[in-house]
Amino acid sequence: MSEKKDLIEELKALQSKAKSELEALVGEKALTSWKSEYLGKTSPVMQIFKRLADAENEERARIGQFANEVKSALESMYEQKVNATHQAALSEELAHEKLDVTIPGRRPLRGRLHITTTTLREMYRIFAEMGFQIYRSPEVESDENNFELLNIPTHHPARDLWDTFFTKKEGVILRTHTSPGQVRAMREFAPEPIRVVLPGMCYRYEQTDASHEFQFNQVELLVVGKKINFANLKGTLEEFVQRMYGKDVSTRIRPSYFPFVEPGGEMDVECFVCGGKGCSVCKQRGWLEILGCGMVHPVVLKNGGYDPQVYSGFAAGLGPERIAMLRYRIDDIRNFWANDVRFLQQF
Ligand code: DAH
Repeated sequence: MSEKKDLIEELKALQSKAKSELEALVGEKALTSWKSEYLGKTSPVMQIFKRLADAENEERARIGQFANEVKSALESMYEQKVNATHQAALSEELAHEKLDVTIPGRRPLRGRLHITTTTLREMYRIFAEMGFQIYRSPEVESDENNFELLNIPTHHPARDLWDTFFTKKEGVILRTHTSPGQVRAMREFAPEPIRVVLPGMCYRYEQTDASHEFQFNQVELLVVGKKINFANLKGTLEEFVQRMYGKDVSTRIRPSYFPFVEPGGEMDVECFVCGGKGCSVCKQRGWLEILGCGMVHPVVLKNGGYDPQVYSGFAAGLGPERIAMLRYRIDDIRNFWANDVRFLQQF
């Protein structure tokens, strides 16, 4: 009997010890060890249940119930302490990390499109309005497409016009212009009519200077069909120039030589800087060259699968970087790929 009474006393003592320890402790770590000490499997309260095993039924029920009450009292004081501890930690944190919501936010660095990309897109838009579709063709090309099929045989002196990057694979080069796409488009569409722009990067083994880069973009135009004539070429290009540079910009076409067109020409626009009088930008000529063009050579038409007796076509090659240079008065083409943000951010 007295042992049972002792058990009750023991539990009471335990509860008050646990309580005062819990009240005094600080921090999460101390909380955890308190929990295992008073509520863990080997804690005195839990042991009491074992010790009750051989007590009489009535006693066992009474003391057991009391032990349960103590256990839940310990659990609930533990919960309270946990909440209080978290609350304290939070207030501590808030006191130290004051948040000033009135400080202006940091501006994120915004990216932007490259000047060549915006120029290209503007060109696509203008040509799309005139019914041209974009036709993509590869940057790594065969010698055959880049030269042979464009009427530039292997030992022809015209090859000197294009300084070429060769790959280790025989007959595979980096395209020197977008013109090889002409043959690809014709072979895909023949004998249907064609109206495409062929954009993309070109490569030349070039001594770089303010107007020469070893990589640059071109936009090729190709129109093939029945009764396509030089007036169509001139009208299309003039319309393009006016939409790109403004209604009152004058143009002219000078005869020039490219093996894949006959006749061939180059188009100039009146110098925007001096209005045609002559200045340092146009090198006193009053005109700025912007593109090469011509009527597709019969040999090229035939290579593309069109009968030159029935079909004709015109082609042109434009340089978007050159167009941007003229428009924004950029004086060095090397700026485009030098990746200097001070340059790129201006556009
Ligand atoms: N492919 C020529 C070059 O890179 C440019 C060119 C000239 C393209 C005349 C044409 C053209 O389509 O008709 O030098």
